[in-house]
Amino acid sequence: MKIQLSDGRSIPIEMHKIRIVQSTQLPPIKRRAAAIKEAGYNTFLLRTRDVFLDMLTDSGTNAMSDNQLAAMMRADDAYAGSESFFRLADAVKEVFGFDYVIPAHQGRAAEHLLAKSFIKPGDVVLMNYHFTTSKAHVEQVGGKVLEIFTDDALITDSDIPFKGNLDLNKFEEAIKTYGAEKIAYVRMEATTNLIGGQPFSLDNLRKVKDMASKHKIPLVFDGSLISENAYFIQSREKGFDGRSIKEILKDLMKYVDIFYMSGRKSAAVRGGMIATNQKKFYDQILPWLPVYEGFATYGGMSTKEIEAMAVGLREMTEQEVASSGADFIEYFVDRLKEKGVPVVTPAGGLACHVDARRFLPHIPQPEYPAGALAAAIYLVSGIRSMERGTISTDRDAQGNDVMADLELARLAVPRRVYTMSQLDYAADRIAWLHNHRDLVGGLKFIEEPPVLRFFFGKLQTVSPWAENLQKAFIKDFGEDC
Ligand code: F0G
Repeated sequence: MKIQLSDGRSIPIEMHKIRIVQSTQLPPIKRRAAAIKEAGYNTFLLRTRDVFLDMLTDSGTNAMSDNQLAAMMRADDAYAGSESFFRLADAVKEVFGFDYVIPAHQGRAAEHLLAKSFIKPGDVVLMNYHFTTSKAHVEQVGGKVLEIFTDDALITDSDIPFKGNLDLNKFEEAIKTYGAEKIAYVRMEATTNLIGGQPFSLDNLRKVKDMASKHKIPLVFDGSLISENAYFIQSREKGFDGRSIKEILKDLMKYVDIFYMSGRKSAAVRGGMIATNQKKFYDQILPWLPVYEGFATYGGMSTKEIEAMAVGLREMTEQEVASSGADFIEYFVDRLKEKGVPVVTPAGGLACHVDARRFLPHIPQPEYPAGALAAAIYLVSGIRSMERGTISTDRDAQGNDVMADLELARLAVPRRVYTMSQLDYAADRIAWLHNHRDLVGGLKFIEEPPVLRFFFGKLQTVSPWAENLQKAFIKDFGEDC
């Protein structure tokens, strides 16, 4: 929700009270310098005790509601036939209209089941953009990912409202090139995570579905950030401003063959699921569920989380909840923009994304500008962001680095967790860093895992730039900040 102030400003406003809090601390700069070095300049390897604001992700870190926590107390821990599952199935039917539900312990588990059930070696999966785990699962079973985003998608400084749209001409070309029978499915990701949380329009989804149906290609919808995409449709797409989030979700689902989501984002729990109205798809996936996840009525999730997910799905359809992340992200993006920091615009659905190539134009891409930026942001602020660039892109079969389309440092804004003053602090320190950007240098790998290397990889600086940055910071703020 946004609210108009008497001075004309519009600010995001919390439509909740905070009654349980968790303390955090700002370790002094010298400790931060040691911590990021110990972590191999990889923010994934920092410990919570060394982090002030944890903006690594909005996955599993959103604040839960009182009703979600209360629902957890009535969990039915039956291995089979759990009442908790049926309460989740009722919520899925009510919110999305699907009859068949397959629980999975998180989003990538759903992706694993889909890959196992629908992809044969040599198949192609079309996507409006890939996500790291969605691509890894396709490739693990011998498939190939083809991204068919529009030409606007990679312009970071933009006012195009739907950069997550799938390019229909490229879709048609892909069908001609590979043949429809080789295309396992087309995957639409609600707010494309890796290119700035950018939504697609309902009009685009409808057209993608028309084309897919004509060629009998199933449409798979990744709804991990579905309430945010629905909110952007409501606020940006012509003809939708009078429609409720609930109605838009129902409109979207009309075009979906198989829906899946990480429950860790819009639904504010730790879990995931697949849902469909087509029994043939359900029957194709279900046999794999007990092999990899668990019985059909828990699928690897704790029944407490299943209960909380049933509530979370209903709550994410409320206007105040669907907008709670996006409005704060927009505020954060606007603060950075007015200080001249290059950010992805329009503001997206899960985070504020800083464009590292524009921020650090002197760092060549093989020295990982987004990784260097994430490390430098931590150093000067204690804020943990995530590299979303070439480090997050694995090497090709020949062992060459694959340069990412974009180099972004992602500052996730978990819903209902951080306040405006914390965002103001973040914007201030990032702007300070921008004014001292010449001090920041590149990184190189010293330990590099073969798959999804960004999780555990360790790097070092190519020059003593972290020490120089630390000195400049102490000069301006002292040693205690
Ligand atoms: N799809 C999307 C669009 C995601 O953003 C994620 C996770 C997944 C699938 C996988 O779900 O984590 O529950 O297994 N995104 C997290 C992030 C990890 O930090 O953006 P998961």
